[in-house]
Amino acid sequence: MIAPSPLTRSGPNPWTHPRRKGYPKLAAFASEFGTKFGGLGGGKAKHGYSTGVLDSPASSISPRQRAAALGFAGATVWITALPAAGKTTLAAALEHELLDRRRPAYRIDGDQVRRELCRDLGFDHESRTENVRRVAHVARMLADAGLVTIVALISPYAEDREQARQIHADAGLAFLEIFIDTPLELCERRDPKGLYARARRGELKGFTGVDGAYERPAHPDLRLEPEPVQRWIRRVCDLLMADRALTAPPTRAH
Ligand code: ADX
Repeated sequence: MIAPSPLTRSGPNPWTHPRRKGYPKLAAFASEFGTKFGGLGGGKAKHGYSTGVLDSPASSISPRQRAAALGFAGATVWITALPAAGKTTLAAALEHELLDRRRPAYRIDGDQVRRELCRDLGFDHESRTENVRRVAHVARMLADAGLVTIVALISPYAEDREQARQIHADAGLAFLEIFIDTPLELCERRDPKGLYARARRGELKGFTGVDGAYERPAHPDLRLEPEPVQRWIRRVCDLLMADRALTAPPTRAH
């Protein structure tokens, strides 16, 4: 018997399967829930989602199936550190290195995210949590699509980073937390955007490292100290290569 292609659904199609008949019940439940909690589609917490949104399968193709079809597995490399610690330098160099190795990679950088996806957010605790949450979901989707997604975000709170890891774990995707442990004094001496200086003058409130918190990762997958970026790249690539889930995806099923 010919095994199904990893690209064809091996299980029932959730959109045509008879179980779908059960959905009207869910809709009725959602309607009742919505009435109780602010109306269908109307009851929205700040940054929360509409009560009219139902859970539906994100994808009918599992990460394993996709990895088998593509020949490699997606993952997220999450780089956290103080401002000016070297996150963007590492992320950009890693993206180049992976592409040189013919591994699809894509970089998401805090500054860009702040100009686009999260331009409505500030830098208070709640906003940073929301920033990390949004980026974690985007990263999870890109990783699920088969990319090594490289995130360079201060992400100063341990709980938020843990949440990002959990979002990936729930989807069966690898998540590697990399902490660039550059001392604050060195970051401040570099100060490429002059933001530490502005924060010290009191012109910028809640700046990470000055009067904004940064919770150091207690157990990162990799901790890097200031070194030439090529050394960092070697260590990160060693880590990626050591992860069997990333280097040895299941063989093609047909
Ligand atoms: S995070 O804390 O929410 O993860 P993110 O990495 O997205 O931060 O954005 C950091 C960038 O925003 C910095 O590189 C810096 O240019 C800019 N920025 C502006 N205000 C602040 C602030 N108060 N603290 C840290 N970064 C700031």
